[in-house]
Amino acid sequence: MFLESVEAENFLSYKKFKMGLEDQGLVLIQGDNRDDPAYDSNGAGKSSSFEAIVHTIYGKTMRGLKGDDVINLDAGKGCMTALNCRDDSGAKYRVERYRKHKTGKNNVFIYRNDENITPKSTKDADKFLAELFSIDFQTFTNSIIFGQGDEIARFSTASDSEKKDILEKILEMTVFKSAQEEAKARLAEKATAISTNERNTSQALGLIDEYKSTLEKLRDSERTHLADIEEQMTLMKAQHDLHESESVKLAAQATDYETEAEKVEVKLSEVNEKLEKYKKVQELIDRQNSIVTSSKVEIRHFNSELVTLKDEVTKLKNGEGTNCPACGQEVTAETVKPSIDHTTAKMREIMIKRKATQEKLEKDELILDGLKKKLAGKDTLEQEKNDIVGELSELKASIRVSDEKLRNIESKKKTTLELIERLEKNRDKTYKPLINEKEQQLADKEKFVEELTTQRRELVKEAELIEFWVSAYGNSGVKSYLLDSVTPYLTQRANYYAGKLCGNTVEIIFSTQKQLKSGETRDKFEVQITNTVGGASYLANSTGERRRIDLAISLALQDLVMTRSKGKLNVLLYDEAFDGLDATGCENLIQLLQELSTRVGSIYVITHNDALKTFFDNQITVVKENGETQLVVA
Ligand SMILES: Nc1ncnc2c1ncn2[C@@H]1O[C@H](COP(=O)(O)OP(=O)(O)OP(=O)(O)O)[C@@H](O)[C@H]1O
Ligand SMILES: [Mg+2]
Repeated sequence: MFLESVEAENFLSYKKFKMGLEDQGLVLIQGDNRDDPAYDSNGAGKSSSFEAIVHTIYGKTMRGLKGDDVINLDAGKGCMTALNCRDDSGAKYRVERYRKHKTGKNNVFIYRNDENITPKSTKDADKFLAELFSIDFQTFTNSIIFGQGDEIARFSTASDSEKKDILEKILEMTVFKSAQEEAKARLAEKATAISTNERNTSQALGLIDEYKSTLEKLRDSERTHLADIEEQMTLMKAQHDLHESESVKLAAQATDYETEAEKVEVKLSEVNEKLEKYKKVQELIDRQNSIVTSSKVEIRHFNSELVTLKDEVTKLKNGEGTNCPACGQEVTAETVKPSIDHTTAKMREIMIKRKATQEKLEKDELILDGLKKKLAGKDTLEQEKNDIVGELSELKASIRVSDEKLRNIESKKKTTLELIERLEKNRDKTYKPLINEKEQQLADKEKFVEELTTQRRELVKEAELIEFWVSAYGNSGVKSYLLDSVTPYLTQRANYYAGKLCGNTVEIIFSTQKQLKSGETRDKFEVQITNTVGGASYLANSTGERRRIDLAISLALQDLVMTRSKGKLNVLLYDEAFDGLDATGCENLIQLLQELSTRVGSIYVITHNDALKTFFDNQITVVKENGETQLVVA
């Protein structure tokens, strides 16, 4: 940051002043207190001009004044300090800090290129300014300004941790703290992510175990199921084979029966044929019988006629001597004789016929006997036929039974085949879809676990990296490395200045390690000061020696600040920094200041040391008159 000018109104002893700060070279500020004859320069307002800068940036003075205490007592209000400056990019800033001011009230205003960019609260504005100037009060008062005041914690007398703190601020190491906090937050995020990942992984692994055992059970069931099916299939096939062979057997049996039946039928037709012949004989017999019977009837008729005729003859013979009923004449042997002769002739004629019939009957009966003889064997044959018919009907019954059995077997075969078909279908159905689904779920879960493992590996890697940065941003990390890297520089610069200011009697060593009595080393920042002709520690040295040592350290710190891109200013301010120096010291110092002025635009020096005054080209006199200080530029 380039400071261009500082202004003040009603600030401490000033009513109003403006002081240019850019490229002023080596400037001596001297005082002229015209109000009090007891003082020459004291109380003129020299330090107050520096305080205006400090107050604008930090809201307090080096002597510890803040709030309304900085208001010029005489005015009692309307206090304002302001800085005009610009950054490396050329952007112009104006910072105004007010107390009891009519328009500015108690506020701070920050303008960038005339645009009001003031944060809402004064606290935020102070924070913004510390960041804008990239230097805090403590560092500022130990490097940029070597001033008077109770608020200044002198580096040499600061505690080791305060020293470390100042250096950390110069080296902008505070950034590491927030970086470390951020890294810690990110690490916590990663830890949460890792534990979520682990929880998810163990959950997924649990599910995988569950899926595996379910799969095992399903596969077992599948195996059992298939084994059952195989067993049933074997059983069914065996049954089918049995049915098949039974069917073949039955078919053969049926064929046998049929062949047998055919044979029996042949036999039956043969017997029937034979019986047919008997039937014809029987018909002949029947016919012969009727012939014989009619002959017998005829004979019986002849016999009956003969009896009648015989009775007639008897009657005729018995009528002799009687009168004829018709004519009434006596019947005599002669009169009855023609009738008896006629009847006797008739009887002879019938007897001849009866004899012929008798003879025919005998012949016919002979024929009939002959025919009847021919019927011999018929009964046996009929018995045989009955047997054959019985056998045939048995065979047919067997064929029917066999057919029935065959149908039965065929139906069983069909049922078995249907069962086999169903079993085959079942073999394909079964647990496969469930197993496939579970296998898919398992594969998905395993893939998920793989992804989680990869994610975890990456998270762990990231966490390790962040852990590295947490420790890197920590005290023992980059900070210690940075401190280690600047301490030789500081030692070298401090001794360079000490050499100029104190001769080669004082040695200043910045170190990050403390050597213990045991010989061990421990991380501890400290500044060791040895005076070969004086005290063994800082405090043991005289006030003058301590001033020189402080200066040497301050100059070394300035060098360090100036090497940084941030926090460096174009102004250095020394308030009675050199007043304790003797003539040699003054000469050395002037050489140093001239050396410094080649790289720092404006160096302001307040001193009561007249020996120094002759070396300055530019002078500003602070004149206090009637309680009011004014700047008089020579
Ligand atoms: N609020 C104030 N109003 C008016 N004057 C004040 C106020 N506060 C302090 N002063 C006075 O301002 C004067 C200037 O003080 P300053 O510290 O700037 O003097 P100096 O020139 O640095 O003197 P020295 O040489 O003693 O260091 C002093 O007389 C001091 O008492
Ligand atoms: Mg002073």
